[in-house]
Amino acid sequence: MPTNPPKIKVLSCGNERLQKLKEAFHGKYGQMPLFYACAPGRVNLIGEHIDYCGYAVLPMAIEQNILAAVSVNDSQSIQLANTDPKYKDFSVSVDRISIDKDNPQWYFYFLCGVKGIQEHLSLSSLSGMSCVVDGTIPASSGLSSSSALVCCAGLVTMEANQKSLSKVTLAETCAKCERFIGTEGGGMDQSISFLAEKGTAKLIEFNPLRATDVRLPDGAVFVIANCCVEMNKAATSHFNMRVVECRIATKMLAKARGLQWSQLQKLGELQMELQASLDEMLELVEEVLHPEPYSTEEICKTLSISTEHLRENILSTNTQHATHFKLYQRARHVYGEAARVLQFKAVCDSVPVNAVAQLGDLMNQSHVSCRDLYECSCPELDQLVDICLQVGAVGSRLTGAGWGGCTVSMVPSEKIDYFLQTVRERYYTPDARRSALEKQSLFVTRPGGGAAIFTEE
Ligand code: GLA
Repeated sequence: MPTNPPKIKVLSCGNERLQKLKEAFHGKYGQMPLFYACAPGRVNLIGEHIDYCGYAVLPMAIEQNILAAVSVNDSQSIQLANTDPKYKDFSVSVDRISIDKDNPQWYFYFLCGVKGIQEHLSLSSLSGMSCVVDGTIPASSGLSSSSALVCCAGLVTMEANQKSLSKVTLAETCAKCERFIGTEGGGMDQSISFLAEKGTAKLIEFNPLRATDVRLPDGAVFVIANCCVEMNKAATSHFNMRVVECRIATKMLAKARGLQWSQLQKLGELQMELQASLDEMLELVEEVLHPEPYSTEEICKTLSISTEHLRENILSTNTQHATHFKLYQRARHVYGEAARVLQFKAVCDSVPVNAVAQLGDLMNQSHVSCRDLYECSCPELDQLVDICLQVGAVGSRLTGAGWGGCTVSMVPSEKIDYFLQTVRERYYTPDARRSALEKQSLFVTRPGGGAAIFTEE
């Protein structure tokens, strides 16, 4: 049964953050908010860079979120403000919304959500709205602050226009509309932001989108640690380059198997088409692809297409300059990681005596694959993972897109105090910048709830 995001009645006076936001809203617009909406960030436990290949991932929502206070206005404009002065106010007429891909400002993410819902509902006119946004997810840290902002904006737009959509529809719409800003993400972030439930991680599967509870074993806790290198996936081409390499690998493998390759876009679709197991897909990669990077010429020759065709139909706007593509490594990561997600879920379901150790192993294998095959780590992430493993974690890996941002570690409960203290001493304290960021960079996390709307009692 499709369900809608919950509408919760709250008292702002019992909630310091809500109270502050209400005051900020009043200070800005001289009126009280009509409603509030929140959407959480997430930590991905395993299954990195495979959602856009069609494979299941295993994230959980975190407590940190984007919270917006909203009122509807009749000025035909969308007015946006942020409690963090670093993020400037912005205002735009409801019929002039445009998103500048080359300039990923915070308010363009909000507008992605607005535009996505407007298009999904075919709304010819939008209600004007005034919003103040307050975020607690550290930006550019791999905890999905930008997708949470898109999701929050989508939910706000739905509510302000008095419409009702299911969580699944909201998640799918918000996943698609983030492309307006130019990233070709796969939908994990938006799905968990809407479908999360307190107390449980989720296996998120795509086509059709669905979420299944994954009960994490007792006796271990998950710790997030930010390596303090910022990564903004809309501002660089790393992310879309990987999406494109997976797409080309799909087509090259399909061609080698005599399939109609032009329609196939994802490594997961190829597996379905071939009705093969993940192990067989790994064998196919070994047999067909070579580890040396592929040049544009080699790809075009193998697929019998022109360079123009490659650029216009296969590459993204920000990967037009690319001349070499690592297809073997990327495909090996994707099929291997897809298998690890299923193994992780199976261990959580059957809870063998050494469950924690087995899950830790899978997380470690995932990091090695991200580092060596997918090349989405960085020296600071690797150093932090090493420290975490040395001081008690049974598993540690980068989480999210990578190239900076956070690690997630699984730590036996009895070692947690020593773990936190020693990671602090070894990674954060020796460096002034890291040490200044430490409070919001190193914390224990538990599965949080999904996006919701609040009104005051
Ligand atoms: C980003 C994207 C997600 C996913 C991860 C990597 O967060 O938005 O869809 O691809 O990177 O796993």
